[in-house]
Amino acid sequence: MSGSRAAIIAIENVHKAYGDLKALNGVSLQICQGECFGLLGPNGAGKTTLLSCIEGLISFQEGRISVDGYEVAHHRRKVKSMLGVQLQDETLFTDLTALEAVQFYGALYNTFPSRAEALALLERFDLAEKRNARIGTLSGGQQKRLTLALAMVHDPAIILLDEPTTGLDPQARHHIWDIVRRLRSEGKTIILTTHYIEEAEILCDRVGIIDRGQILALGAPRELIERMGNLSTVRASLRLPAEKLEQLRAAAYVQSLSSDDGLLSVQTSDPQRVLTLLEEIGKETGTRPQNVSIRQPNLEDVFLSLTGRSLGPVD
Ligand SMILES: Nc1ncnc2c1ncn2[C@@H]1O[C@H](COP(=O)(O)OP(=O)(O)O)[C@@H](O)[C@H]1O
Ligand SMILES: [Mg+2]
Repeated sequence: MSGSRAAIIAIENVHKAYGDLKALNGVSLQICQGECFGLLGPNGAGKTTLLSCIEGLISFQEGRISVDGYEVAHHRRKVKSMLGVQLQDETLFTDLTALEAVQFYGALYNTFPSRAEALALLERFDLAEKRNARIGTLSGGQQKRLTLALAMVHDPAIILLDEPTTGLDPQARHHIWDIVRRLRSEGKTIILTTHYIEEAEILCDRVGIIDRGQILALGAPRELIERMGNLSTVRASLRLPAEKLEQLRAAAYVQSLSSDDGLLSVQTSDPQRVLTLLEEIGKETGTRPQNVSIRQPNLEDVFLSLTGRSLGPVD
């Protein structure tokens, strides 16, 4: 992020509780104009709740949110006009055609697009050839692209996408990524939620890692990974005597190490030196490391180091 960019959304100390459950527990966050910001967190982290608060769809007990200087609680209509919203489980009228849906949504937003304008919108989302297809007959990826198009019907400056690619196959997911990139290059501000590491890393200028209603870390994906020491993981099948394991563990560039049933896993700042040391130890002990792999650190490691848990199963 460039530090000089203006904040277009300011979220200050937002608390949202459902009974005893703190869905949002003091969230503060600024979204900059023109950035693609990712909220990354497991199911139940509070992602949808936070988007719903920004959108003015739900109220919250404490805190403030403003969009382009307008406080959401007091300027719902104005804020709504600036936001394009794709809900997590958006239900579409399956009997409408894609073109009819654009015109229907346009009417809801008081923009009343002409047929040519509606077609142009479908074209931008690679749906022009589906203009007369009933929504119920579209694939999952096409339906997601349509909900994106519908979110853009009033040409908002800010787009909020709640898990835009969940459940899609890789090809459909990449198609959505291309569209998000294009919207960003057109100068739109984008907030998306995801539990896909890759999506956050590839698409987002900055990521907020959210868990149990709290933002645990905030920054560019690379920055977050470097902040936790930029540790790679070296894995190998190798059985070592205890004193050799200790020798490895004592190396300055080894952060942590586990050995489970002959499977060695080393978190390190210098994977090449670990490999060299493993070769040396292997020669001394007459065993060679097998099935060696090196994994670069990613946001999953960041989440793990922050929470002690993995982000959870990815479909
Ligand atoms: N309407 C509601 N009533 C009660 N609890 C809710 C409601 N909406 C969300 N929650 C709870 O708030 C927490 C955050 O939910 P949500 O924001 O949907 O998470 P995410 O989108 O990250 O999966 C979860 O524990 C969820 O069960
Ligand atoms: Mg959600």
